[in-house]
Amino acid sequence: MNNITTHYLEQYDAAADADKFPLVRRWMYSEPLPFFKELRKKRPILVTPECTLLALFDDVTDVLNMPTVFTVELYVPKMADYLMAHDDDAVHTREKSIMMGLLNRDDLPQVRAMVANIGKSILDQANGRIEVVNDFCRMAPATLVQDYFGLTGVDRKDLIKWSYWNQYNTFHNQPFDLLTEELSKSVANHQKEASEQLGKYIAGLILRRLPIAKTEQAFSALLTPWHLLKKLLGKQPVQTKKKLTDDIVTRMLRSSYPDAVDFDIKRLGINAGGLLIGAIETTSQAVAQVIQFLLERPELLAKAVVAAQVDDPKEFDGMVWEALRFVPIAPYLFRKSASAYTVAKGTTHATTINPGTYVLPLTLSAMFDPKAFESPDEFIAGRNWYHYFHFGFGSHECMGKYIGMILIPEMVRQVLLRPGIKAQASIDYKSGPFPEQYDLSWDS
Ligand code: HEM
Repeated sequence: MNNITTHYLEQYDAAADADKFPLVRRWMYSEPLPFFKELRKKRPILVTPECTLLALFDDVTDVLNMPTVFTVELYVPKMADYLMAHDDDAVHTREKSIMMGLLNRDDLPQVRAMVANIGKSILDQANGRIEVVNDFCRMAPATLVQDYFGLTGVDRKDLIKWSYWNQYNTFHNQPFDLLTEELSKSVANHQKEASEQLGKYIAGLILRRLPIAKTEQAFSALLTPWHLLKKLLGKQPVQTKKKLTDDIVTRMLRSSYPDAVDFDIKRLGINAGGLLIGAIETTSQAVAQVIQFLLERPELLAKAVVAAQVDDPKEFDGMVWEALRFVPIAPYLFRKSASAYTVAKGTTHATTINPGTYVLPLTLSAMFDPKAFESPDEFIAGRNWYHYFHFGFGSHECMGKYIGMILIPEMVRQVLLRPGIKAQASIDYKSGPFPEQYDLSWDS
């Protein structure tokens, strides 16, 4: 890695205009680390005919901090009217805040225990062999989506399918993904069909769950004065109250907002669907890639296996986040500029970006910029968490981040706890953007 050649930019400059971005795209996926290293050194802002790439930590964070200048316009046609497609407006602030409040961080210890149980039970039933992508990496978060988010009464395979096509069309069917016209249309059609099915399911879920949530709430309210009185008189126990159903959908259905807050049943439904879409394919990709990264490095694997046995997960989780720095779910985020802005003003690489430009903040490159990551080529577990981009950065930072922060490492941990864990072959992406097959075995 230290003997970096300088051939990428030479080849890039010599290529015909039409070949420039396809070359860049190939390097971003097949050999991102040396390519990005050369960019950071020689051309930290690369203006290609299709889009502009930003390779440095400071430029990436600067751009991601200005949502109305560098917008998520490219999400708009893909995700109806979900908060994620809004830039720094009332809908985005209101709905993200409501949802993040309902996804109460105080739940996390219980959620981690749930994930551990879900993961353990899948692996216990596998008898020492598993195709881990479908049967674990996708199935475990789908189970959590049912058990914790409350998207019940549906086959988990449907949840997986709906998340898959929405993620594919939004994040991997953009102009700079260079899909053939036929594939691009097919992905868009799959997403349309998936979203229709998801919409119908969510409507049914609300109709089914609303009366239960409200009845339980009314019953509980009736009991409250009596419990309150007992408490005031210093009498115990107050715990005679029936334990209410509790999951995120139920919390949403039980909360009522004044009209002026503008969070009606329609917005509730859209946000319930959003919980699912964000959770499954992202987790699956991160978990599969981290497992592979560790299994391919025996020394690291040995350390991770030891850390996995310890009750306090801090050290193990630190290894997972550092592994994900090398194999993140995507090498970049993407934005479209709405007005002219000069990135890196006052430096030798200052570049004015015109309105309407597609901009790729190369988050993978930024995680190897020595400005924020000392000795970036080395695997150093326990780095400063705030510099990682695993859950995005700035205004659009992941809403499910705190869940992802326990979901991903706990899933990896459950796999590494299996004695003699090994892979039969590398992850097979089947020419698509996501891991599709990864066969593992262990001593059972
Ligand atoms: C666990 C459930 C999850 C939910 C409910 C969720 C939901 C969301 C939502 C709603 C956003 C948009 C936030 C906004 O626009 O303000 C978002 C952004 C993001 N999420 Fe998640 N997510 C989850 C898990 C994950 C996981 C596991 C990863 C990665 C391993 C991830 C990576 C990201 C990234 C990188 C962004 C930023 C996208 C951008 O800036 O354009 N998410 N997530």
